[in-house]
Amino acid sequence: MIIRSVMTGVGSYLPQNVVSNAELSKRVDTTDEWITERTGIKQRHIAAEGQFTSHLAIEAGRAAMAMAGMTPDKLDMLIVATTTPDNTFPATAAKVQAAIGRPGIPAFDVQAVCSGWIYALATADNFIKAGQVKSALVIGAETLSRFLDWTDRSSCVLFGDGAGAVVLQAAQGQGTSADRGVLSTHLHSDGRYFDILQADGGVSTTQTTGLLRMKGKEVFRHAVVNLAETAREAVDANGVTFADVDWLVPHQANSRILDSTAEKLGISPDKVIITVDKHANTSAASIPLALNQGVKDGRIKPGQLLLMETMGGGFTWGSALVRF
Ligand code: ACO
Repeated sequence: MIIRSVMTGVGSYLPQNVVSNAELSKRVDTTDEWITERTGIKQRHIAAEGQFTSHLAIEAGRAAMAMAGMTPDKLDMLIVATTTPDNTFPATAAKVQAAIGRPGIPAFDVQAVCSGWIYALATADNFIKAGQVKSALVIGAETLSRFLDWTDRSSCVLFGDGAGAVVLQAAQGQGTSADRGVLSTHLHSDGRYFDILQADGGVSTTQTTGLLRMKGKEVFRHAVVNLAETAREAVDANGVTFADVDWLVPHQANSRILDSTAEKLGISPDKVIITVDKHANTSAASIPLALNQGVKDGRIKPGQLLLMETMGGGFTWGSALVRF
């Protein structure tokens, strides 16, 4: 028998303010046609003034805990994956912890840009498997709209705000791919590509947050290769094939990246959860947001095999194979 981290609750939160491509084209030199054709994005949610990453994270975290039927006193660990924290310090997780009402447990942020939630999932899963905690709330939350350059049409049209969360709880497993829970996680980083996707500022360099800068074509080229490779290592590590996967729940960057990755893996498009059209790219929030969508609309069912994969700034990339 081994310990598995079972996903017992999922939740999400999206800001009320929805901005369509047509509305965006009134203040940015772009069109609905260009954005739709190149990215599949039709709209994005944008946080209201005074609405911070922690607010989105708290709502998503509470929804996940409600689905799990978990009271705060049963929670052992809280991780927030974000690139857009409320403050430079302390961690956004500290604010979420105070709001959720569970003082004393470890609460911290993880920063791996669009891969942040997979990094946070791997961290929580390993704490659970080591027996150090029995449960964890793993949140991805972002207000990317706050550090976009709204004069750079090649990047500002791609992103949105939102949060998603998952409750993990320890359970006994047999050590096979038939177990429920996180079956494996796979993390990668290659800092040689630091400047292809970055914020051009920070505490130690400019004393500002900087704005998002991206060499889109290079990101695209690396994403398609790295996503396929990390998806393969996830199925290989568990002795399953892509045909066994019920749902691909990918990071939502761009529908062309989603389509070409699914095609490379031989996964049919109707087995891919897609939210990029409605949410745009919400970085660390995008996988748990997509997971929540699939679970709440009834497509993802308990016992099904989910393949998650992601790629982001750093570069960072990774995957997780999960039996829901
Ligand atoms: N509206 C209208 N025209 C635009 C826009 C816009 N929003 N943005 C760029 N253009 C124009 C450019 O100026 C250029 O015009 P030109 O030919 O007259 O010079 C033309 O469109 C083509 O520009 P490219 O940059 O070559 O367009 P490309 O086909 O590469 O698409 C895109 C750009 C969508 C950014 C693409 O490179 C991409 O999706 N890259 C992946 C980036 C990504 O997903 N990043 C997310 C973060 S990382 C991650 O999550 C994986």
